[in-house]
Amino acid sequence: MSTGPGADIRRVGVVGCGLMGAGIAEVCARAGLDVVVHEVSPGAAEAGHARIAGSLDRGVRRGKLSWADREAALNRVRVSADLTDFADRDLVVEAATEDEKVKCELFTELDRIVVREDALLASNTSSLPIMKLGMATTRPHQVIGVHFFNPVPVLELVEIVPSLLTAPQTQVRAEEFVTEVLGKKVIRAQDRAGFVVNALLVPYLLSAIRMLESGHASAEDIDTGMVLGCAHPMGPLSLADLIGLDTLTAIAEAMYADFKDPLHAPPPLLLRMVEAGLLGRKSGRGFHDHSEPRKVPAKVN
Ligand SMILES: NC(=O)c1ccc[n+]([C@@H]2O[C@H](COP(=O)([O-])OP(=O)(O)OC[C@H]3O[C@@H](n4cnc5c(N)ncnc54)[C@H](O)[C@@H]3O)[C@@H](O)[C@H]2O)c1
Repeated sequence: MSTGPGADIRRVGVVGCGLMGAGIAEVCARAGLDVVVHEVSPGAAEAGHARIAGSLDRGVRRGKLSWADREAALNRVRVSADLTDFADRDLVVEAATEDEKVKCELFTELDRIVVREDALLASNTSSLPIMKLGMATTRPHQVIGVHFFNPVPVLELVEIVPSLLTAPQTQVRAEEFVTEVLGKKVIRAQDRAGFVVNALLVPYLLSAIRMLESGHASAEDIDTGMVLGCAHPMGPLSLADLIGLDTLTAIAEAMYADFKDPLHAPPPLLLRMVEAGLLGRKSGRGFHDHSEPRKVPAKVN
């Protein structure tokens, strides 16, 4: 057990229990931490709890954890539709919808609610400026980007993103927590939209969508090309479906707003699909149909 500067973090709050929030809550609970997860309504909170339970069940089926560990982890997670339940948290990881207004309002509220003076206020944002989230609080020196990858229980990487005002001690504690308590690997990035991984990945995904949109190749062939030709674990359109097309659009728009480079502009096909509610796996259909298992090679995890 670590005794370093992140080891005092025992009570974690996670805001949002969608794809990412559920995964973050799960890895924190599996690390023995006390976790409260906040969602917008009691119904959304229950759905989030079921998502965490479902993922733990998959872990048991794959032999990654015992049934007793599954029970213990689930008992450490409480879901709540009331943000004031975060008053006693040592660390909050915000993983709500990728929307600047929503996140800024949440950080203002968290600043008001979280009592511990040196609590860390982290965001899992993929693309929004950490500086803006920090400036929504009275403690920007304690606000930092802690960017997990999907699926969180499987992927090892976390990007650590300090803003210009983040205190060095905040970064040290966040890194120590992520590596020593959660057992993940960190890389560090400047506070620029997309950080390291999405700055490289998002233009690639958008290129694949433009390729499909222009009739250059079919969705199946684009994905099969990158899986069998480049040994990628899944093709770009399958990956876009896994990320969520609404989330991918929001990330691309934030990157476009930061860099003003057409490389990051979401293609019309992507925008139309989001308008149609075709969001990828989470809605059952995106570039592929997810209502049935697919035959295209795709190694998810
Ligand atoms: N999807 C990915 O692959 C991925 C990877 C890394 C980071 N992220 C980032 O993680 C964050 C969440 O993405 P996601 O994929 O989990 O999205 P999601 O749509 O699956 O889940 C977002 C959740 O946030 C909840 N929410 C919205 N407003 C809220 C509020 N005010 N309070 C509490 N909950 C609220 C929604 O009800 C929803 O359940 C985003 O910032 C996204 O950019 C996503």
